[in-house]
Amino acid sequence: MAQSPFDRRVLEETAFAYWGSCALFAAVQTGLSARLAQGPASKELLAGELDLDRRGLELLLVALQALGVVQEQEGRWRLRPEAAALFTPGSEQDCSHVLLHLGDMVADWARLAECVRRGRPVERPQPKEGEPSPPRTHFYRAMRDIARQQAPGLARRLGLRAGQHLLDLGGGPGVYALTFVQETPGLKATVFDLPQAEEHFRQEQERYPGGEAVVFRAGDYRRDELGGPYQVVWISQVLHGAGPQECTELVDKAARALAPGGVMWIQEFVLDPQGQPERFAALFGLNMLVNTEAGRSYRREELAGFMREAGLVEVEYTGPTVEGSAAGLMRGVKPGN
Ligand SMILES: C[S@@+](CC[C@H](N)C(=O)[O-])C[C@H]1O[C@@H](n2cnc3c(N)ncnc32)[C@H](O)[C@@H]1O
Repeated sequence: MAQSPFDRRVLEETAFAYWGSCALFAAVQTGLSARLAQGPASKELLAGELDLDRRGLELLLVALQALGVVQEQEGRWRLRPEAAALFTPGSEQDCSHVLLHLGDMVADWARLAECVRRGRPVERPQPKEGEPSPPRTHFYRAMRDIARQQAPGLARRLGLRAGQHLLDLGGGPGVYALTFVQETPGLKATVFDLPQAEEHFRQEQERYPGGEAVVFRAGDYRRDELGGPYQVVWISQVLHGAGPQECTELVDKAARALAPGGVMWIQEFVLDPQGQPERFAALFGLNMLVNTEAGRSYRREELAGFMREAGLVEVEYTGPTVEGSAAGLMRGVKPGN
C-alpha cells in the first residue's frame, strides 16, 4: 500500500496525537467514563462522586466532547450513544482495559529517546512475586479484550477438528483456546503461560460453556517442557517480545512439541504484510524497544525463517487475522503422516 505523503498537516496530527490519547486515558483512569456509562450527570455531581477538581473535570469534559466521546444536554453530561459501548465496563466492546494498559505505558514512552540511545527499555521497579500489580492486571485484561474481538470465527480458518489437541503457547487469559474449543466440539486445548497468568485464565474460563476442555499449564517456555504431542500449536503475539535468537529457539521447541503432520500458526503484527513496513507494526516495534530487552516486530520472511529453521514446511503468510486487523497469520506444517 502506498504511504501517504508526509506534510505539515500529517506532522502536526501525529505530533499532537498524544494529547487526545491522554484525554482518553484520563477519562478511564479517573473513573469518569465508567460513571457516565451508568447514566448522565451534572459536572457538580461528577466532581463530588469522583473526587475531581472542578476546573480539571470541566476541561476534560470539553476535550472529550470535542473528541466525540461525550455530549452535554441541559447541564448534564453523558456518553455519546455511538461511544457508550466502548466505555461501558463489561460490555462486549469495552476498551477501558486497553486504554488503562496504554495509559500505564505513557511515562516509559516519554523516554523513548533514552531507549533509542541505550537500545534497551527504561529501568522501572518490578512488582515482587505475589504482590498485586495494577499494570499487570491491565495488561492481561487488555490482551483478553483484544482477543475477544479477534478470536470468534477463527477456528474454522485454522481448520480445527474434534479429536485434536491444541497448544496455546503464551496464551495468557486463554481467550483463543477457549473460543476455539467452544467453536469446535471435541477439541482439547492446553494454555501454557507463566504462573502469574493463571488467575486471568481462571476468570475467563468461567465464561465459556465447555471451558473445562482447556487446561492451564504453568511454566516458563524458556526453561520448561511444553508437553504434547499436539496436533496444532497456536503462538499468538508472543514472538514480538523476544529477540531473533530466542524466537528461533522457541519456535523450534514448539515444533518439537507438534505431532508429525501437525500445524503451527503464528499470529503477529507482521511488519511488512504488503511488502513495505506497515505503520502500526512499525510503531509496535518501538513499543517493544520501550518494554522489552530484545523484542521487535518481525517481517514475514523472518517469521517464515523461524518456522523453516524448525523444520516446518509449506510455510506461508495467510493474511490478516480479521479484515483490517494489524495482526496477521503465518502457517507451517511439520512433515510426516
Ligand atoms: C502479548 S501476550 C499474548 C497473550 C495471548 N497469546 C494473546 O494473543 O492475546 C504474551 C504472553 O506471553 C506470556 N509469556 C511471556 N513470557 C513467557 C514465558 N517465559 N513463559 C511462558 N509465557 C510467557 C505472557 O505472560 C503473556 O500472556
